[in-house]
Amino acid sequence: MNQVVEKALRGMALLKVSNIRHWTDRTFSFSCERPQGFRFRSGEFVMIGLMVEGKPLVRAYSIASPSWDDALEFYSIKVQDGPLTSKLQHLGAGDEIVMRPKSVGTLVHDALVPGKRLFLFSTGTGIAPFASLIREPESYERFDQVILTHTCREVAELAYGYDLVDRIRGDEMLDEMVGEKLMHIATTTREESPHMGRMTDWIRDGRLARETGAPLDPATDRIMICGSMAMLQEHKAICEALGFVEGSNSEPGQFVIEKAFVD
Ligand code: A2P
Repeated sequence: MNQVVEKALRGMALLKVSNIRHWTDRTFSFSCERPQGFRFRSGEFVMIGLMVEGKPLVRAYSIASPSWDDALEFYSIKVQDGPLTSKLQHLGAGDEIVMRPKSVGTLVHDALVPGKRLFLFSTGTGIAPFASLIREPESYERFDQVILTHTCREVAELAYGYDLVDRIRGDEMLDEMVGEKLMHIATTTREESPHMGRMTDWIRDGRLARETGAPLDPATDRIMICGSMAMLQEHKAICEALGFVEGSNSEPGQFVIEKAFVD
């Protein structure tokens, strides 16, 4: 590698991409090699991107694969005029992305105190950190039930989540680990489907309680939230009104939030 490129990369890893799948005209997923010695906690994010005009252009991306996996998986939005995703969406097998091999984030088990039910509320590509967490053994060791909700505008956008659950069910070891503990609730807001509406409305009007057997309760439930800023704010307000206390890595609590990658 020449010295100019080496300097521009400064601690970044160059990783070969594989398994690119375009789910809709708004989303796609891909895998890449995992750098040797790179460790992360399921639910965390890293900075990834591309070399553009000799410089790394990176954004925060949740790692969608679990911490034990050999490959790293990412689920991304496509924004036609987005500085990174307008280019990233054209990745082909064998192309390279750059990654800063240092992960961070609050959607991790360390930021939650123990509980019985774990709720993972997501919209759009906000499902990515939960794709990691629902394949993480610790989720099932720490909780009796893991409830993943995924809300999108249209039916086609739910495909990544359905495929994820199918992949778990199709893998003998994962299926055994998950057993009956995982519940997947997928809803749409702008196209007809069996389950419709925002999860914030489901919480307020009792539909979530009916579907899961009991209303949200800070005594037993822990919550992780990932989506747009508006979605986070609304879920956070609901949590706080119900008496849930926000957690962090240094002070675990009863709910945690993180913004999904957007441009
Ligand atoms: P809606 O269609 O009613 O706006 P987006 O693509 O805008 O990020 O939206 C993804 C999903 O998140 C959509 O289904 C959208 O519903 C939903 N959503 C947007 N804002 C909120 C919010 N404040 N609370 C809950 N869900 C939301």
